Amino acid sequence: MPSLLITNAVVVNEGRRFEADVLVQDGRIAAIGGDLQSRPVDRAIDAAGRLLLPGMIDDQVHFREPGVTYKADIESESRAAVAGGITSFMEMPNTKPPTLDAERLAAKYARAAEVSRANYGFYLGASNDNIEAIRTLRVGDACGVKVFMGASTGNMLVDDPKVLDAIFQDSPVLIATHCEDTPMILANEADYRARYGDDVPMAAHPLIRSEAACLKSSTLAVDLARQHDARLHVLHLTTARELALFSAGPVAGKRITVEVCAHHLYFDEGDYADKGALIKCNPAIKRAEDRAALLSAVTEDRIDVIATDHAPHTLEEKAGKYFQSPAGLPLVQDALPSLFTHVRAGKLTLEQLVHKTSHAVADCYHVKERGYIREGYWADLVLVDADAPFTRTRDQVLYKCGWSPFEGRELGATIVATLVNGELAYDNGQVNDVVRGRRLEFGPTR
Ligand code: DOR
Repeated sequence: MPSLLITNAVVVNEGRRFEADVLVQDGRIAAIGGDLQSRPVDRAIDAAGRLLLPGMIDDQVHFREPGVTYKADIESESRAAVAGGITSFMEMPNTKPPTLDAERLAAKYARAAEVSRANYGFYLGASNDNIEAIRTLRVGDACGVKVFMGASTGNMLVDDPKVLDAIFQDSPVLIATHCEDTPMILANEADYRARYGDDVPMAAHPLIRSEAACLKSSTLAVDLARQHDARLHVLHLTTARELALFSAGPVAGKRITVEVCAHHLYFDEGDYADKGALIKCNPAIKRAEDRAALLSAVTEDRIDVIATDHAPHTLEEKAGKYFQSPAGLPLVQDALPSLFTHVRAGKLTLEQLVHKTSHAVADCYHVKERGYIREGYWADLVLVDADAPFTRTRDQVLYKCGWSPFEGRELGATIVATLVNGELAYDNGQVNDVVRGRRLEFGPTR
């Protein structure tokens, strides 16, 4: 593999910002220093004026393969991911068929090895009847077990109390939960249908998928985790009220961690008027107060990581009325640029952004040798031009579904280049289609 020297970059890493050169050899970071320019290398990149960050590790994406590949697939979406500065992803089990056993997990890993441009891990899904597949998982087989404690896209609701108890008691790996109380949501849906028939306004989504439904379910997850001393990671928090369930502080030492997603930090209920179904997702985008509280909780280390929940659907599907239009939005290409919008607004520091999108994710999942710019670690790196905000237009969108919820919106920075295992996977607008990611390795989290 050719060696590479990145010179004059402003490295943002482990709470510090400093100018340095970074030498990449055999896919790994060989040296970080101020005086590496005399080293013989195959290629040099002058990164003067650019930030150099560890690549984002996205712990929640839906790439739809197998079975729903008319919307997205591992190849198309991993191309978009590297264009967005995401060097590793962890993919969800609500595919067709769902990823409920070792065989289906193995098939996903095999497919990703063929086509993925970024590094990859996959979740095993939980169902009301696959506890044995969960119990027999070995560390590293899956990044975690995904439990839909509220129903969403795909039919994967786990609502049998005995099964939930068994999962929290026995899962050998991290348990990642989608928390929304389905009976409460169904009751709200019935109310709105009675009032509006089929013409429920999109702005009702956060009232149907309500704060109370989120709180009830996340409280149950936290209670179960405490009862069984399980390793719980609550996905995509959306409300200020739920924040009290989580403690502030570093990931190390926490048994219960929590994620927020880029779109829940960017949009709020005022955006339904303009974006409608394009920002319909589960859990719903809620009030401006919630958005502000979530962003503050990130800065206070009460929220541990930022991810995307990239969940593409076609525009034709999104054009349906409230009950027909599926929930979810494509995000991997624009999530990191969207987070720079908060940096520009002074709401998030660069160091916090790097911590939440990379270091803390590696810590949460015990990802081996990634998530930090350290000598010996894999060279998963992103060069960013923080002085180049831009307005997203559809013609640059790489998702198979062909649209972005950020179209027409200004995003805070431009991703210039992305290295995956020391190879330039994305460079100035071009995805390098020769590059392949590697399977993520994990240490024990239980
Ligand atoms: O909005 C969402 N879309 N939330 C989920 O939990 C699933 C996802 C999807 O797969 O479409």
